[in-house]
Amino acid sequence: MFSMAETNKTADPCVMVIFGATGDLTKRKLFPALYNLAKDGHLPDNFAIVGVGRQEMLSDEFRDQMIANLKEFAGSQPDEEKIEWFCSRTYYTGGDFDDDKKLFKDIKDMLRDVCAANNIPENYFYYMAIPPDLFANVTQKIVKNGLGKEENGNWRRFIFEKPFGRDLESAKKLNADLLKILKERQIYRIDHYLGKETVQNILVFRFGNSIFEPIWNRNYIDHVQITVAEKLGVELRGGYYDSAGALRDMIPNHIFQLVTLTAMEPPVSFEADAVRDEQAKILAAIQPFSPEDALHNAVRGQYGAGTVNDKPVPAYRDEEKVSKTSNTETFAALKLSIDNWRWADVPFYVRTGKRLATKHSSIVIQFKKAPFVLFRDTPVERLTTNRIEIHIQPDEGITLHFGAKIPGPIVKMGPVDMDFNYVDHFGEQLSTGYERLLFDCMIGDATLFQRADMVEASWRIVTPILDVWKAIPARDFPNYAAGDWGPTEADAILKQDGRTWKNTAV
Ligand code: BG6
Repeated sequence: MFSMAETNKTADPCVMVIFGATGDLTKRKLFPALYNLAKDGHLPDNFAIVGVGRQEMLSDEFRDQMIANLKEFAGSQPDEEKIEWFCSRTYYTGGDFDDDKKLFKDIKDMLRDVCAANNIPENYFYYMAIPPDLFANVTQKIVKNGLGKEENGNWRRFIFEKPFGRDLESAKKLNADLLKILKERQIYRIDHYLGKETVQNILVFRFGNSIFEPIWNRNYIDHVQITVAEKLGVELRGGYYDSAGALRDMIPNHIFQLVTLTAMEPPVSFEADAVRDEQAKILAAIQPFSPEDALHNAVRGQYGAGTVNDKPVPAYRDEEKVSKTSNTETFAALKLSIDNWRWADVPFYVRTGKRLATKHSSIVIQFKKAPFVLFRDTPVERLTTNRIEIHIQPDEGITLHFGAKIPGPIVKMGPVDMDFNYVDHFGEQLSTGYERLLFDCMIGDATLFQRADMVEASWRIVTPILDVWKAIPARDFPNYAAGDWGPTEADAILKQDGRTWKNTAV
C-alpha cells in the first residue's frame, strides 16, 4: 500500500469492462473517478473502457452520455481535452446478460478489437456494478467465454460491488461459486469506505506516530463510538433498500472497516495480506450476538415524517418503491465487544441511519477520566475531557479534546480543542473515494479490498441479529422522526453503561 500521489505511478495498460454501464454508480462515481485518475496522470495512454448494459446503444451514444455525466458529476468544470481523451477510448455493447451466445461473444470480439486499436495487452478488469444476484452468473459467462483465464502474462481481475451476500449463508455460497472459477487473488470485493482519505489515515495516524499507540488500549480508553449518520432518505433506491435495511447496507461492510482499522494490531508490513490478517483477527474477536444480546445490545429504527433543512419530508413508508407496511429498519445501533487483550471491556458502540439530524461520520475515542480527582468539589470533577475524534465526513480531520483552566482566580476548567482539518492543510481534493480503489485494482494491490474470510466473518457477527429481527418484527415503527438522532432506545444502549452519544451540532 502506498500513496498514489507520492509515487506518481501509472496504472498497468488495461481495459476496464463495466457491467451496469448505464447505471447510477457508473455515472456518479466510476466515470468521475476515472476522470480524476486521468487528470492526475495515473492512467496510461493504452487504456480503454468497454461499457456493457442491457440497453442496445451505439458507442457514440454512450460517449455522449459519458460526457454529460462528467459535466454533471466530475466536480469543477472538466477539461475538454481530457474528455476527448476519454471518448476516444470508450466503447459500448449491450444485450441480455443471460444470453451467453450473443452478448458475451460481442464482448469478446470488442475486447480483441479494442486491444488491437489501442495497443493494449489483454489485461482486463471487470467491474460488476450490477445487482448481486447476477454476480455469479455473469462471472461464469465471462469465464466460459475464455475471458477470465490469466494467460501469456496477462491478468484478469473482477471487482464486485457490495452487498456481497445478504447473510452468512448467501455470502458463503457466492464466495464458493466464484472460487470454483476464479482464484482469490483475481477477486476484488470493494468497499468504497476504504477509498476515503480519512479512513486510510486511521492507520497512518495510529502507526505513523509514536504518541498515540501506547495509550490506544483498555488501560486508557473508556469506549469507542462510531457514527455514520446521513441526512438523506432512501432517495430513488427504495427498491433495493427495502429488502436490505440499514444493518445490511452499512454495518458488516463500511462500519466494520472503521471498527477493524481502529482496533487492529500493527501489521508486520503494509502488504495486502499482512493488513487484512490483522483486520480479520478483529472480526474474529468481535463477540457474535446471542438472541439475548440481539434484544439488548442491538436497536433498530425507522423514520417517520419529519423536517429536514426546514422542509417537511415524508415517512420512509411513503418513499418511492417502499412498501406501505414496510418493517425495514432505516437506523441500526449495536454495542460490540471485542474479546482480545487490547480491548477487553472496552465497548465499541456503532450506529448508522438515514434521515438523521445531520450528515456526519466520525470515530470517537473516549479516554478514561484522570485517575485522581484533584479538583474535588469543583465543576472540574464532572468533566469527561479527553477525546480524540476522527472526522470521516463531511469535514475530514482529527480533533483532540482536552480540558484547560479558564483564566481567573477560581479553579474552573473548560473543554478546548486542538483541530487538524484536511482542507486547511492540504487544500480541496476532488475525490469520489473510488479513484484509489480502481487504481489499486489496476496495479494488483488488494490491500483495500475484502478477502472471502473477512466478508464471511462480518456476516457471522450480524446474521444472528437479522434472524432475531426477522422473527420478531418491530411493532413500534416508525419510531423516530426524520431530522432526529434516531430512536430513544439507541440512547438507552449507552445509558445502561452510564454513557451518552456524542452528537454533533446540527
Ligand atoms: C452505500 C450505501 O454503500 O454507502 C448507501 O448503500 C449509503 O445507502 C452510502 O448512502 C454512504 O456512502 P457515503 O460515502 O456517502 O458515506
